[in-house]
Amino acid sequence: MLAVVLGMQFGDEGKGKITDYLSENFDVVVRFNGGNNAGHTVVTSQGKFKFHLIPSGSLRSSVVILGNGMVIDPYSLIDEIENLKKANPDVQIKISKMAHVVTPIHKYLDKSEENVRGGLSIGTTAQGIGPTYEDKYARTGVRVIDLLEKSIVTEKIETIYRMKENLLADSPYREKSEREKLAADLHEAGKKLMQYMDYTENLIYRFSQEKKNILFEGAQGTMLDIDFGMYPFVTSSNTLAGALSSGSGFPFRKIQRVIGVIKAYMSKVGSGPFPTEIEGDLAVRLRDLGHEYGTTTGRPRRVGWLDLPLLNYASRLNDVDSFAITNVDTLGKLDEIKVCEKYLKDGKEVDFIPRSLEEIKTISIGYKTIRPWGNLDIENIFSSPDGQYDRLPVELRNYVELIEKNTGKPVEIISLGERRENTIHRNLDA
Ligand code: GDP
Ligand code: IMO
Ligand code: MG
Repeated sequence: MLAVVLGMQFGDEGKGKITDYLSENFDVVVRFNGGNNAGHTVVTSQGKFKFHLIPSGSLRSSVVILGNGMVIDPYSLIDEIENLKKANPDVQIKISKMAHVVTPIHKYLDKSEENVRGGLSIGTTAQGIGPTYEDKYARTGVRVIDLLEKSIVTEKIETIYRMKENLLADSPYREKSEREKLAADLHEAGKKLMQYMDYTENLIYRFSQEKKNILFEGAQGTMLDIDFGMYPFVTSSNTLAGALSSGSGFPFRKIQRVIGVIKAYMSKVGSGPFPTEIEGDLAVRLRDLGHEYGTTTGRPRRVGWLDLPLLNYASRLNDVDSFAITNVDTLGKLDEIKVCEKYLKDGKEVDFIPRSLEEIKTISIGYKTIRPWGNLDIENIFSSPDGQYDRLPVELRNYVELIEKNTGKPVEIISLGERRENTIHRNLDA
């Protein structure tokens, strides 16, 4: 099986939990975009694991690959590898030689650029992601393979400095000695990572020829995509399914299954339009019930109601085969639930969310009110492997069926808690 897991909303949909759950049946898990702006929490009987750069399937699959489309902070990666080796000593880790490297200069630039943006600041994760992709496309970036050649790293750091001198004027990097020290440090980090470096596009090809099961794990979410997200409040890479080709070297045409992960409500970190955002006391309650604080930054996440037109858009852009829905346990505890069924402009239905930052303010939401399902009786639901879906409260089944009816796609996986085992997998062929 060759499959991809992706976020359908603004990130943090629970992709980590779903990837870990699915990875039992996959030999290889591949990340193809983003960097440690991503944060995934996986909870198993062994404890709680947080992944940023390493794919969330790494606890169970035998090979994990960090593809060329990623931007990698070598220091964070070294720490993450050390932690992973304790949990899964046998896992093989492979890093694309062509992935780009996030350096401390890029992290500094991330903050400087945010200051310059003023009212249009994005609320980035400050992990240097944007500036690293800028350098990649400016063709001044440092690639993973470059770390092994000190003279190249030094030259590239000098070039980056000359290009961005204004933004770095108050930074320690205005001193040549600091830049040289940085280049030397990066070269040292590169030597530590050398054993993991490879031409991963060739490895993935070989694994596919050997008929290995490969799972591609998208980071972020569809509405953070640089092209189709809520620009400019997006990340700096493509997050759609198609990005797996350029981000890993594996042809999308061969992918057999696209699984879209939905949070039962919605959350967003950072600035920008969020049509179904909930404000006030209810937002505080939902945030607390769902522990909605960023895995990477600890920032409180904004929360909102499920947005069906947006979900349809995401489903279409990614050509989703089926959905996994998470956090239904959290949503069910509210006294009343709403779902966005349509967008309205001047009282008339519009089927598409406009992207003009002014026009979007004129859109109102047509909500449908849903009866909550309360606390779930987890013990009863999982009392036998058969009939788990039928033991869900009828209100929750109605919610799942509303999504299916609206999108025309089946909900294959229902996640009832953060733990791996609190997951219902419906057999769609039955
Ligand atoms: P990701 O970035 O898409 O991998 O998502 P995150 O891990 O950043 O955020 C999702 C959060 O929801 C994490 O804290 C998960 O442990 C948690 N989570 C995932 N699925 C469920 C679920 O079904 N119920 C509950 N209560 N928490 C969940
Ligand atoms: P996972 O993989 C949620 C958001 C940031 C900010 C915008 C740009 O855990 O779902 P960046 O640092 O990428 O330049 O920030 O994108 N963002 C995420 N929000 N989950 C993520 O990843 C995110 N990655 C980036 O909060 O609004
Ligand atoms: Mg996350």
